[in-house]
Amino acid sequence: MAAIVLIGAQWGDEGKGKATDLLGEKLQWVVRYQGGNNAGHTVVLPNGETFALHLIPSGILTPGVNNVIGNGVVVDPGVLLTELSGLEDRDVDTTGLMISADAHLLMPYHVAIDKVTERFLGNKKIGTTGRGIGPCYQDKIARVGVRAADVLDEKIFAQKVEAALELKNQILVKIYNRRALEPAQVVDEVLTQAEGFKHRIANTQLLLNEALERGETVLLEGSQGTLLDVDHGTYPYVTSSNPTAGGAAVGSGIGPNKITTVLGILKAYTTRVGSGPFPTELFDEWGEYLAKTGGEVGVTTGRARRCGWFDAVIARYATRINGITDYFLTKLDVLSSLDRVPICVAYEVDGERVDEMPMTQTGFHHAKPVYEYMPGWWEDISQCKTFDDLPKTAQDYVLRLEELSGAHISCIGVGPGRDQTIVRRAII
Ligand code: GDP
Ligand code: IMO
Ligand code: MG
Repeated sequence: MAAIVLIGAQWGDEGKGKATDLLGEKLQWVVRYQGGNNAGHTVVLPNGETFALHLIPSGILTPGVNNVIGNGVVVDPGVLLTELSGLEDRDVDTTGLMISADAHLLMPYHVAIDKVTERFLGNKKIGTTGRGIGPCYQDKIARVGVRAADVLDEKIFAQKVEAALELKNQILVKIYNRRALEPAQVVDEVLTQAEGFKHRIANTQLLLNEALERGETVLLEGSQGTLLDVDHGTYPYVTSSNPTAGGAAVGSGIGPNKITTVLGILKAYTTRVGSGPFPTELFDEWGEYLAKTGGEVGVTTGRARRCGWFDAVIARYATRINGITDYFLTKLDVLSSLDRVPICVAYEVDGERVDEMPMTQTGFHHAKPVYEYMPGWWEDISQCKTFDDLPKTAQDYVLRLEELSGAHISCIGVGPGRDQTIVRRAII
């Protein structure tokens, strides 16, 4: 019996898709437990074929794995169908995909409200992906959401949508000066879409617990990252769910005592998309170097990712908040050809050195990085297979990150491909 949680340890895009794919063959189940199609997870198969997953777990690309969209996910029906048909067009077997009956459906009005709210906020905007994620979770918490199981009873579904739209239309028309959405049209559209996924709706909480009882291995694939968590992230510049380890139990319906491993995914430097504080952000040629060498463009929105050096304060925080037992360090190859590699080991806040995340967001806004420098390496490391294959200075960089982060770095990515991974300690 083993449930493994896989979590982004920074601001997302750490390489969760690649890590899920690497573990794929040893898994029976992969579960998304929060977020929605704000995520963009890249998997590069051994034959070089590249896939970008948004709503569907990355385990879909490993034959024989059961994939679950858990109760904690918000599901845009149109996106789900498009993603499914995109995979099927490329001969991916999607029959094993299930959707929790309790997952909330992301409706057209959520997308509309996300977009107008961001426009309204102007330069104070969150920089969301515009996919309706925040408004859908708002409805869930306000107890006016629509869940996957609701499409199984058309009358109940129509009642819920009509009730929700009464208020949404007031907001759209009276506050934002937009056009009202026609309830009958929304009901019709989503019920038509539901014909394409109704058969996948299941009691996934029960199925997962039964699988764990049978001794099967379940990977809980987080989206976004620790610093985007609505409780533990850089609030309000966060997403509206809990990517952190605690969210995995809630969003999948398994007990926390079933989780045996918490795998943090950590980029060898830092990136962020959207607004919000980012102490090690670079605005010089090094920022451009990381963006270009690392190909740092958003998988979902195509936005340029902000880039900066590795931040050990954040990593330490992620280790603690999630109870991380192992790290998968990705993109070490991107740092080849630097004379020296800076690591942010602490912050200076209002003239004082601070070794841990400041208690307040104001403190974090004012945090200036305190750097230490490690000697760099110039060799191409993309074909290295073992830790000993790495240049000594690259090994030292990894060991220093491990020491500062407070958890064992068990896997190291040296390229986007599945094989471009050094395994120091097997996760499963
Ligand atoms: P996710 O959202 O955490 O799954 O990450 P994304 O897919 O948004 O972004 C990670 C990017 O880095 C993708 O383009 C991956 O193919 C790529 N990637 C992952 N691991 C490595 C690595 O070790 N080296 C390099 N060069 N690229 C990697
Ligand atoms: P993966 O799973 C990086 C960011 C957005 C924005 C904030 C809120 O690929 O790592 P939202 O649309 O969720 O309300 O936007 O969160 N964001 C991500 N950044 N990777 C992601 O997903 C993200 N999902 C959301 O850019 O700053
Ligand atoms: Mg991503």
